[in-house]
Amino acid sequence: MANVLLLGGTSEASALARLLAAQGIAARLSYAGRTHAPLAQPLPTRIGGFGGVAGLAAYLREEGITHLVDATHPFAAQISAHAIAAAAQAGVPLIALTRPAWQGQPQDRWTMVPDVAGAVAALAGPARRVMLALGRLHVADFLAQPQHDYLLRFVDAPAAPPPLPRHRLVVDRGPFTVAGDLALLRDQAIDVVVCKNAGGSGAQAKLIAARALGLPVIMIDRPFIPPRQKVHEPAQVLDWIAHGATPPALRGV
Ligand SMILES: NC(=O)c1ccc[n+]([C@@H]2O[C@H](COP(=O)([O-])OP(=O)(O)OC[C@H]3O[C@@H](n4cnc5c(N)ncnc54)[C@H](OP(=O)(O)O)[C@@H]3O)[C@@H](O)[C@H]2O)c1
Repeated sequence: MANVLLLGGTSEASALARLLAAQGIAARLSYAGRTHAPLAQPLPTRIGGFGGVAGLAAYLREEGITHLVDATHPFAAQISAHAIAAAAQAGVPLIALTRPAWQGQPQDRWTMVPDVAGAVAALAGPARRVMLALGRLHVADFLAQPQHDYLLRFVDAPAAPPPLPRHRLVVDRGPFTVAGDLALLRDQAIDVVVCKNAGGSGAQAKLIAARALGLPVIMIDRPFIPPRQKVHEPAQVLDWIAHGATPPALRGV
């Protein structure tokens, strides 16, 4: 009998949670606890970190987890690395449900940067109106370029005002539409968009809107995550649970 631990915090994880529940597969969903009111899920939910690799490995053993599914965000590199190491320690097969990275089109005006620090550096120069589509974690880094007027879009209203001297805040939860993001970029007279190469459709609207308006985009590349088995569709995870899961020891991990 399968007993699945699904590491979530993404729309893909929510889609897989619905599939697992519909199939009657025993599973639980884990959130880091970053969002105040995560969407209700059809699976039992736990919230909070495990306490590093050792904590996650102990959880896998103690809870009798048979399959570990990492459906966290492509920029959540720490939990993904922990999942690889903990799965190997506990002898539990692991699969990652990931979104393919976005690919630029010929008409796009993307500047690729390796990390948030690269995005900050790429904003050197005269004051512009910048859409900072990064969530709230890295906002303070942009204090290094205080001349810009920043548009911030957060899932939750922040407890304290964002530290940037000139900013406007929109509180909204995706998925976003192209029409909505076109209107937002136009109404806010945005000159440049800064975002992570998250992939997926829900967050892509701003890129399609930026393309339509001929706006430049500063695109932050994905962080390194060690190799692991990956699929892009929630239904492929069900196939893996039914037929394809191989414990790490048998794969020589
Ligand atoms: N990074 C992003 O851009 C982004 C965007 C949208 C959604 N998210 C979601 O937000 C969450 C946190 O992202 P992050 O970038 O802060 O992660 P991270 O830097 O990779 O992880 C930091 C720590 O948070 C805990 N953690 C992360 N995801 C968890 C999960 N699903 N269940 C239980 N503990 C978890 C782990 O703590 P312990 O070491 O104590 O186990 C991990 O070491 C993830 O669920 C991710 O899918 C992230």
